[in-house]
Amino acid sequence: MQRDLPAVLIPEATIQARVQALAREISADYRDAGAEEVLLVGVLRGAFIFLADLSRRMTVPRRVDFVMCSTYGGGTEPGSVTLVMDLRSDVRGTHILIVEDIVDTGRTLQFLTKALAARGPASLKTCAFVRKPDRVQVPVPLDYLGFDLPDVWVVGYGLDCGDFHRTLPYLGTVPTH
Ligand code: IMP
Repeated sequence: MQRDLPAVLIPEATIQARVQALAREISADYRDAGAEEVLLVGVLRGAFIFLADLSRRMTVPRRVDFVMCSTYGGGTEPGSVTLVMDLRSDVRGTHILIVEDIVDTGRTLQFLTKALAARGPASLKTCAFVRKPDRVQVPVPLDYLGFDLPDVWVVGYGLDCGDFHRTLPYLGTVPTH
């Protein structure tokens, strides 16, 4: 099953065109806001390809850093998120753009926005490659979005299924197990 190529949901050319448009929109917004520099905070591991493409197409000064989160499905607080890898530097006074692969329940992005907002950034915005609107359980402030998806498991363009298929250039679907 894992060796079969997933069915195409969003083709590579469509993704690349959307990422280009997002990069242009984001750059224009920060330029208009007078931001001297933006810190792109990629959420590992799924956002690494989206962040790579987006950041190379942006035209405002930018730096890149990463965080990694972990979600606990069981225990007393199902779905609670913790930070397992933090940013390298203090972000007080920094313009932060969180770059996330997918908004599923929304818990990861909700957790991260709260955690980073508490550090006193100059501004805090969010960008997700894809979102599953039917699955979102908590309110997530999303400033930029690539695509809305149906409630299916997607792989490729950084997203995985059991660590497979992350490096596919398109967004595909795999049968749910
Ligand atoms: P959240 O539920 O919005 O906090 O998302 C949690 C994480 O679940 C995401 O960052 C992804 O790593 C993972 N995830 C949710 N849906 C998918 C999917 O369709 N494909 C791959 N990963 C997914």
